[in-house]
Amino acid sequence: MEKVVERILISEEEINQKVKELGEKLSHDYKDKDVLFICVLKGAIMFMSDLSKAMSIPIEMDFMAVSSYGASTKSSGIVKIIKDLDASIEDRHVVVIEDIIDTGLTLSYLIKILQNRKPASLKICTLLDKPARRTVDIKPDYSGFVIEDHFVVGYGLDYDEKYRNIPYIFIPKSDIIK
Ligand code: XMP
Ligand code: MG
Repeated sequence: MEKVVERILISEEEINQKVKELGEKLSHDYKDKDVLFICVLKGAIMFMSDLSKAMSIPIEMDFMAVSSYGASTKSSGIVKIIKDLDASIEDRHVVVIEDIIDTGLTLSYLIKILQNRKPASLKICTLLDKPARRTVDIKPDYSGFVIEDHFVVGYGLDYDEKYRNIPYIFIPKSDIIK
């Protein structure tokens, strides 16, 4: 990994500690409700997995995959549903689990889609928040780390589909990013 890591931004220990704290907070907030976690694939997979194990209450899980249509839609924020949820979220208490909120376009579009399905409540939990690049007004209800404007990889986040399995979050060397 020395060849690709410029700098470790968030260590495995720091992630574990933060996930534990978020798990306690969410367990407390949802102690009297049936909660459904929606994992936004693929980036949130590690976070979803660890966070759900840090919960002291039973939760349900579902998965969704979205992608941008193309370059021009980066600014419109229109996303295509690649994999939809298995079940209805009507009257459910939903928490969307994300890896990172950058411009916020993807998530704000996704939230609109989910809100139309009439959940009882809908909250956002993101591991990373990069507010410097936000172009739409969207704020996470639960957030692990606020980071500066770096491209980061690891713990679910990929570069060219690689490094999702690396247990820490790092800034890659500029020469590996084409
Ligand atoms: P927006 O801009 O819509 O984008 O909030 C969110 C999605 O873009 C990806 N993204 C990143 N992926 N390192 C990554 O590996 C990053 O620093 C980064 N910033 C944004 C990610 O898929 C996220 O869901
Ligand atoms: Mg993502």
